[in-house]
Amino acid sequence: MSDQQRRLQIFSCNSNPDLAKSICEHIGIPLGDAQVGKFSDGEIHIKLNESVRGSDVYVIQSTCDPVNQHLMELLVMVDALRRASARTINVVIPYYGYARQDRKARARDPITAKLVANLIQTAGADRVITMDLHATQIQGFFDIPVDHLLGVPILASYFKDKGLENIVVVSPDHGGVVRARRLAERLEAPIAIIDKRRPEPNVAEVMNIVGDVAGRTAIIIDDIIDTAGTITLAANALLDHGAKEVYTCCTHPVFSGPAIERIRESNIKEMVVTDTIPLPDHKKLDKIKVLSVASLMSEAIIRVHNEQSVSKLFD
Ligand code: R5P
Repeated sequence: MSDQQRRLQIFSCNSNPDLAKSICEHIGIPLGDAQVGKFSDGEIHIKLNESVRGSDVYVIQSTCDPVNQHLMELLVMVDALRRASARTINVVIPYYGYARQDRKARARDPITAKLVANLIQTAGADRVITMDLHATQIQGFFDIPVDHLLGVPILASYFKDKGLENIVVVSPDHGGVVRARRLAERLEAPIAIIDKRRPEPNVAEVMNIVGDVAGRTAIIIDDIIDTAGTITLAANALLDHGAKEVYTCCTHPVFSGPAIERIRESNIKEMVVTDTIPLPDHKKLDKIKVLSVASLMSEAIIRVHNEQSVSKLFD
């Protein structure tokens, strides 16, 4: 295949323009020239100002708040690229929203993670590159390749450089144990699990801790911090059980509703997050450290484009 046929172009919608620019800088190509705006009634309007005919195109867009608008921008962008004869359309979704409704937890629940997968595929995407899906089985909701990157190597390397001692890595619930184990292995630390139970209906939840945390530096890891209820309660439970200090980390800082107030007032020493979701100025606190996924994402794009293995990036 000639170089001309394998032309790589990157476009961004509106969710994460800084990350998109940073990915382009890492790869060494300019960001594609496109306008992603709205008509006066709110409908999404896309204008591609350069040809994409025959190109392998990567679209960077997190489906974070405002979720519905960002999702629709992505779908309209994919449609525009398909109709403009892009060779392949690869959607890079650092944060995949709607992922927490991934099964029918109660009768008559929707499964929005699958609905969004259907929409992206129907719009014309050929591949998805994403990161720390809330449930890994969402990969199977697509019938196109999904490259699923992990935030743990980035978080682990930050904590390693801090030189913390006597660490215990904590999962704030049973669902996050595999993730906690991955971080613990890299930090050569044991794990603990917060076991939330409601002994009887209408009786307050009790937080038991499985594992030894007394006198240790705890690092809680979650995929998402949304209202920060889970993480701040977990931090309190660890301190009540004798943890020396509590660090927290996650890949996706959704930070909705009371999150920033809760984090500000919490006993959490530091909260480490990534830039899969951008933080506006009013959500920036001294104790929140943001690590970039740009280098990981750009490496994944280059590997996919060159048809090389992506699994090396999990090491
Ligand atoms: C739940 O299963 C997720 O992993 C997170 O723990 C949850 O989404 C965090 O939400 P919040 O910050 O609102 O407690």
